[in-house]
Amino acid sequence: MWGGARAQRRRAPAPRRARARVAAGAAGGPLRVAIAGAPASGKGTQCEGIVEAFGVAHISAGDLLRAAVAEGTGPGLEAKEYMDAGKLVPDEVVVTMVKDRLAQPDAQDGGWLLDGYPRSKSQADAITAAGIVPEVFILLDVPDEVLIDRVIGRRLDPETGKIYHMTFAPPPPEIADRLTQRSDDTEEKARTRLGVYYDNIDAIKDAYSGCIVKVDGNRSKDEVGAEISSILKGLRA
Ligand code: AP5
Repeated sequence: MWGGARAQRRRAPAPRRARARVAAGAAGGPLRVAIAGAPASGKGTQCEGIVEAFGVAHISAGDLLRAAVAEGTGPGLEAKEYMDAGKLVPDEVVVTMVKDRLAQPDAQDGGWLLDGYPRSKSQADAITAAGIVPEVFILLDVPDEVLIDRVIGRRLDPETGKIYHMTFAPPPPEIADRLTQRSDDTEEKARTRLGVYYDNIDAIKDAYSGCIVKVDGNRSKDEVGAEISSILKGLRA
């Protein structure tokens, strides 16, 4: 989708306003990108394409937390209670986890794609104070009822990490039996997560007002991907 000739032909240009903002924030060196949006807005789905096309390190706060929960570490056990409730895990757990991951050589040398972090003003302040600043902050915009449908139908392939949807992105039949569903992917928990998102997003928008680019996420995966790809290519044009 991201690299092929067909995709190149179909790729939509970045909106005029987005291009101007990105150019203003361009700094050279490895890419530094943050992607945000409500639960199930398509962050993880788009990150798959971005990593493939740009080779950056994908740093998903949710994935780091789920790995810690699976390993049964102290921070993982603490995080589980909040994740099960659809609430934000406390900063003292998340901030260190994300900062440590950002310090790894692949992220330092090849650039990074921060997914689902920061989710509050205090988290934004914590990385800014450490000199960690994205060049562009992509915000996926999707209506609430679409988000709920996406949450309920989402399935994950534990072997490849790929994200599917039973209606919008159906899995190949031969792997359907091994797919899993996240424990927080119920309508009730999704609505709690959505509330948390709305409680925090305005402060985050303010924190990144100089580099935020809103992208309409209520389009096909390829259309959304084409716009994001164009924005990121514009950073080094
Ligand atoms: P996290 O795992 O980050 O969950 P989230 O933000 O709620 O986002 P999701 O992973 O649900 O959705 P997504 O936007 O990646 O969508 P996806 O691409 O999968 O966080 C989970 C929990 O961890 C939080 O609730 C919190 O407790 C904790 N946490 C995480 N970060 C934290 C932080 N910084 N601080 C504190 N706590 C934190 O797509 C969803 C579905 O839609 C899929 O089925 C997909 O196939 C489908 N889809 C995607 N794009 C499209 C499209 N264009 N058209 C149709 N369908 C699509």
